Amino acid sequence: MNLFATPNDAERILFLRKELNRHNYNYYVRNAPEISDRQFDDMMHELEELEERHPEMSDPNSPTQRVGSDRSNDFEPVTHKRPMLSLGNTYSRGDVQAFYDRVAEGLGGEPFDICCELKFDGLSISLTYEHGRLVRAATRGDGVQGDDVTANVRTIRTVPLVLPEGLDYPDEFEIRGEVLMPWESFERLNAERERREEPLFANPRNAASGTLKSKKSAAVAQRRLDAYLYYLLGDALTTQTHYERMQQAAGWGFNVSPTAKLAHSLQDIYDYIDHWDEARHSLPFATDGIVLKVNDLRQQQRLGYTAKNPRWAIAYKFQAEQAVTRLLDVTFQVGRTGAVTPVANMEPVLLAGTTVRRASLHNADIIRQLDLHIGDMVRVEKAGEIIPQIVGVADVAAPDSAAHRGAAVQFVKTCPECGATLVRYEGEAAHYCPNDTACPPQIKGRIEHFISREAMNIDSVGPETVDDYFERGLIRDAADLYSLTVEQLMGNDGSRRRSAEKVIAGIRRSLDVPFERVLFALGIRFVGKVVAKTLARRFGSLDALRAASLDDLMQTEGVGQAIAESVVRYFADERNLAFVARLAEAGVRMEAEQTALQSTALEGMSIVISGTFARHSREEYKALIEAHGGKNVGSISKKTSFILAGENMGPSKLEKASKLGVPLKTEEEFLQMIEG
Ligand code: IVH
Repeated sequence: MNLFATPNDAERILFLRKELNRHNYNYYVRNAPEISDRQFDDMMHELEELEERHPEMSDPNSPTQRVGSDRSNDFEPVTHKRPMLSLGNTYSRGDVQAFYDRVAEGLGGEPFDICCELKFDGLSISLTYEHGRLVRAATRGDGVQGDDVTANVRTIRTVPLVLPEGLDYPDEFEIRGEVLMPWESFERLNAERERREEPLFANPRNAASGTLKSKKSAAVAQRRLDAYLYYLLGDALTTQTHYERMQQAAGWGFNVSPTAKLAHSLQDIYDYIDHWDEARHSLPFATDGIVLKVNDLRQQQRLGYTAKNPRWAIAYKFQAEQAVTRLLDVTFQVGRTGAVTPVANMEPVLLAGTTVRRASLHNADIIRQLDLHIGDMVRVEKAGEIIPQIVGVADVAAPDSAAHRGAAVQFVKTCPECGATLVRYEGEAAHYCPNDTACPPQIKGRIEHFISREAMNIDSVGPETVDDYFERGLIRDAADLYSLTVEQLMGNDGSRRRSAEKVIAGIRRSLDVPFERVLFALGIRFVGKVVAKTLARRFGSLDALRAASLDDLMQTEGVGQAIAESVVRYFADERNLAFVARLAEAGVRMEAEQTALQSTALEGMSIVISGTFARHSREEYKALIEAHGGKNVGSISKKTSFILAGENMGPSKLEKASKLGVPLKTEEEFLQMIEG
């Protein structure tokens, strides 16, 4: 063993840590993974091995030292009564056998059964019941602390809120399982998002996770999540095997999958795997493997836990469906923000029921890691994801084929649309075309954003129309829309007069769109819908926003450095100023409506908002407080008039409120106050 890491190993360790952190973030926070689970696990294993060989490089902040966290800031934290561990992953029968042997050895030759279950592909959830009532639902988070998502979980129809009386459940117990989105709901959701031009979810797991963390439980209810339960815990439970506990839970009304089966031998396990590797394709939801658990709870206890995983259970992941095909070429697409995405064009190949011709290659780093050459036979994978991925080159191992490979794929240096030299910003994986004012897809993309439903909502003009007007030289930016005339748009023979009139009417109607949406429509980097609303409310007009300093901007709740800098940069550019001046001239709203006080019901009151709500979002409650003369403040003090308390207010806030004698009001009480 090396005493000190060789430069190569050291570099590799640092590289893997950085990459894994980035992929963790993509997966858990952005819900937009760039690589398959398998690739992630392989990198993690490699890092674990390297760190084991080089203890001098250990780092408590290495991604190997924790299970990824999916904590979100929008929910109250919950500390799990019993930590939520995850399972070790395996991909081969050899690994399954090794697990089986380890268990046999750990139990000193005592006979044992293994409970085989499907591995549901969603996100794990912990439900706590007291006296037969659901009192809390929490995500796993980092395993120790998760998010309180009770209000959202209540909308899942298969989660019982109250258990029937007279059954043998204890006063307190916890049941864990997986929240998932069935294929049918997933497809409906993505179709809807496509219609609204919103980004699509890559797979049902991301959709389920994005949904469960949504702030409005009414929206969650619409999306039809489902939940399967697979782990029952409690101090007062009397059953002694996992399988019996699941039967028991099913008897109390929990959704326990009937697919679980007891295996008495290694062969039984293999049979189960073989059966479901095929049969899973006809299930109404996604599964990505099998979970194997030692059935007897005393035996589980004897086997115990490692730092991260139980020794009595393991996950076997199905091989994602793969196909091999030839890489024909790589083209580069430029999006609205100027981000350049490489796309692989391949010989058509059948994969998991659809013909695949194209795959996203994401960015230059991924291309380099794959070491792609034109003409290579590549392995394409669809691991529950909708968009296929290239996961590797199939046959470079043969030495003579290596010599005859085509040209290495190079990331372009200049923009394929306008020829500008691409740039790469610090800390970002993507390359950008900086020519935002003259690069056609960027211009068209910005106009499309401007007219989109949640911006100016000019629904009489669609993306094809934008293309058409742009090609005909009628528009060069969104402000040009306002000088279009019916005569320009209709055909020479007057045939398209009616549709031209419709377009113009739609454009004119957009003059009524409130300022906050105009601000969003401008497409300032990092100024999304929510930030636009916040800025509009805080500054009140475009002039005031333009005059704001970096400091002023950063004083605004929810506005960090990146956003503030982007706003300042936007208004420092003469061309943007000219553009907004033309919009103003056309009559587009550049001032927020003076929100006349709706009442003085809350005059002089300082109100803290805490918890999650069913009727309105937090943002809406903030606006309501202001509209009725009150002030929304962040922390509880003696001066706080009351707390607008939603579900699952955090225990520390609750304690502080009762110590200072600050009263709580439910959302119903609050609404009555302002309505009355
Ligand atoms: S048991 C200590 N059973 O897979 C054992 N987990 O990497 C706890 N999962 O975090 C988990 N189906 O989100 C278990 N039938 C099943 C499962 C399952 C899916 C998920 C769960 C867990 C992850 C493990």
